[in-house]
Amino acid sequence: MLTLEKNIDAFVEKYLITPENIWQPTDFLPNSQSENFIEEVKEIQELSKDLDDDFWVVMVGDTITEEALPTYESWLLDVEGISQMNNEEGDNGWAKWIRSWTGEENRHGDVLNKYLYLSGRINMREVEIATQHLIADGMDIGTGRDPYKNFVYTSFQELATYISHNNVAKLARKKGHKLLGKMSKIIAGDEMRHHRAYTEFVKQIFQHDPSEMMLAFRYMMKHKIVMPAMHLRRSNGQKGDLFNQFSVVAQRAGVYTGFDYVNIIKKLISVWDIDKITGLTSEAEKARDYLMRLPERMYRITERIVVPNTKYDFKWIRPIS
Ligand SMILES: [Fe+2]
Ligand SMILES: [Fe+2]
Repeated sequence: MLTLEKNIDAFVEKYLITPENIWQPTDFLPNSQSENFIEEVKEIQELSKDLDDDFWVVMVGDTITEEALPTYESWLLDVEGISQMNNEEGDNGWAKWIRSWTGEENRHGDVLNKYLYLSGRINMREVEIATQHLIADGMDIGTGRDPYKNFVYTSFQELATYISHNNVAKLARKKGHKLLGKMSKIIAGDEMRHHRAYTEFVKQIFQHDPSEMMLAFRYMMKHKIVMPAMHLRRSNGQKGDLFNQFSVVAQRAGVYTGFDYVNIIKKLISVWDIDKITGLTSEAEKARDYLMRLPERMYRITERIVVPNTKYDFKWIRPIS
């Protein structure tokens, strides 16, 4: 972490964008200072009627996941090698990275939340309650404070969010909802850029510490990548009681499926050139063998999974009573 930290300014420069130069939520929303505001909101509400409940459930889940950003920022600031105020000049480089990344991510929940509010399809109070709960419930992604495991997790998750926002964009465009399509697409673009950054960190760790990095990768794959919204719950419910239903809906809507999970593993194996890494201990060689065989094995299991068609009652899309 100390070695990589020396390049943090270059990473920030290459993979993150300053507030003035990046898109902001306002760029994709009706301007409330304009005379056309009400007309534009009406148009959004008309178009929103054409998208089905499953679609809105996925949108809400994705929004709440983005809105739980305080959980991710505080988690990452606690990872070994990342620290705030560790010397007289202030933060170490990693803290700077985490903060700049957080600043970018914050725009995702912001724009999605405002859009849900304008759509007229959502019971915002229930969404707000679920968000407050999710932040309070926190998460345990099984990485501990280990930076190697955490960077495997973030490499994976940034790609997962790319896939999910990108699929939402496709569904929205198919229904003629251009603005929502554009907005989701641009969020997906951010996630892809973040994914590239985190995979680059891991790539560099592989150069310095190949065996330990390989073992960390296997560890994370063996224990499965849990979703950051794992503790999602309904109002007056139990911790995590809503996550499975949300996950089923995301799968049948085609927004994030078991096959996406396997494809992400494949992509990580290829981007890190797992088959070509040299200088491994015998234990790390075994880990490599496990990883190389994993996608095919998981693909076969995924093929057998049947996604239920049950209609769930989500309070998020019920009228406010
Ligand atoms: Fe995001
Ligand atoms: Fe991201």
